[in-house]
Amino acid sequence: MIIIFRFDVSKEKLSSITKCMVKKVYNWGILAPGNIARKFATELQQLDNAHIYAVGSRNAQRAKEFAEEFGAERYYDNYYDLVADAEVDIIYIASPHGLHAEHALLCLNHQKPVLCEKALALNQKEVDSMIACAHENNVFFMEAFFTPHQPSYKEAKRVIESGELGKVKYIQGWFGFNKAPYDNSLRLMNPKLGGGALLDIGLYPVFDALYFLGEPDQIIGRADFSETGVDQGVSIRFDYPDGVTASIFASFVAASGLGTDIFCEFGTLRLRRSSAVDQSLDVERPGSEVKHYKWEASVCGLKQEAAEAMKCLDENRFESEIMPHSMSLKLIKTLDIIRHKSGIVYPERD
Ligand SMILES: NC(=O)c1ccc[n+]([C@@H]2O[C@H](COP(=O)([O-])OP(=O)(O)OC[C@H]3O[C@@H](n4cnc5c(N)ncnc54)[C@H](OP(=O)(O)O)[C@@H]3O)[C@@H](O)[C@H]2O)c1
Repeated sequence: MIIIFRFDVSKEKLSSITKCMVKKVYNWGILAPGNIARKFATELQQLDNAHIYAVGSRNAQRAKEFAEEFGAERYYDNYYDLVADAEVDIIYIASPHGLHAEHALLCLNHQKPVLCEKALALNQKEVDSMIACAHENNVFFMEAFFTPHQPSYKEAKRVIESGELGKVKYIQGWFGFNKAPYDNSLRLMNPKLGGGALLDIGLYPVFDALYFLGEPDQIIGRADFSETGVDQGVSIRFDYPDGVTASIFASFVAASGLGTDIFCEFGTLRLRRSSAVDQSLDVERPGSEVKHYKWEASVCGLKQEAAEAMKCLDENRFESEIMPHSMSLKLIKTLDIIRHKSGIVYPERD
């Protein structure tokens, strides 16, 4: 006996089925090909729905070299032409943070979705304007902040939310490196570009405290300044109800690496990331064996940020649930308070 199945599929239905089956490949435009843009592009190459299509630099030779290195078919000697290229689907902004607001507005006003490096901008006013511009243009916008994409953080959050260690009582977070002697012409040392430890690295432990404890009732901050006037070190304390505190430091003069210890009523979580961004999490409970988790650098977050941005575009979403606008706002609002308390100033921007 021969059984014949008849499929009665309309043209429209067939086209929507085909669309679901064929994954869209996004043409990425890279704005400002510096250090992190190279790392990001290396990870982008590992995603099958991402194509490094174009790059824009202030310098034609730098743009050409980057395009050759990553196989991009277009390169521009300015950012405007990159943004105006109709074939670009999404732009990754990797300029110094003092320029992020200007560059994000340029992209968003050209209807280009944006994944913008941290720090999202120099202050809340700038971030407000970027988010408002994304809303006005109905365009996707997300801060490239790797922490919430990392499996170590997801596991730490799961343990805390399970209640098995009780309530969080204290957090200690730090991020430091020492690359002295510093070249004062570097963006890190330039206050006009938002240089300094707080916005470069301090925002990671600040984010951790906000992520695990929420916004504090009171903030104390103290900074130590370089000869160029940037904060080469900053110490911060967050106070919460019931004596709960977070102590944080960020430094260009102490080679501490990046870590966060979360002390709970019945145990401690220790999050660590090496310079190669391998991550680990130790869960310690008095009287029990330490649970040690380790993840390799390949899951550090740059690739995951890009994948999340493309997933949002696939689903026609304007913001990410993993790194929503509200989290970026909470972060910059807290950074503003820390700056005002510790005397950190970005000339002509406060
Ligand atoms: N997510 C992370 O892990 C991570 C790590 C490092 C840095 N970042 C962030 O990424 C951003 C870039 O950092 P980076 O270390 O890649 O910096 P970088 O190596 O100095 O690159 C920044 C690029 O921005 C462009 N630029 C435009 N105007 C500039 C100006 N006035 N001065 C200097 N550069 C200018 C330059 O490219 P062209 O001149 O070629 O256009 C330069 O190559 C910063 O906001 C930083 O916080 C994130």
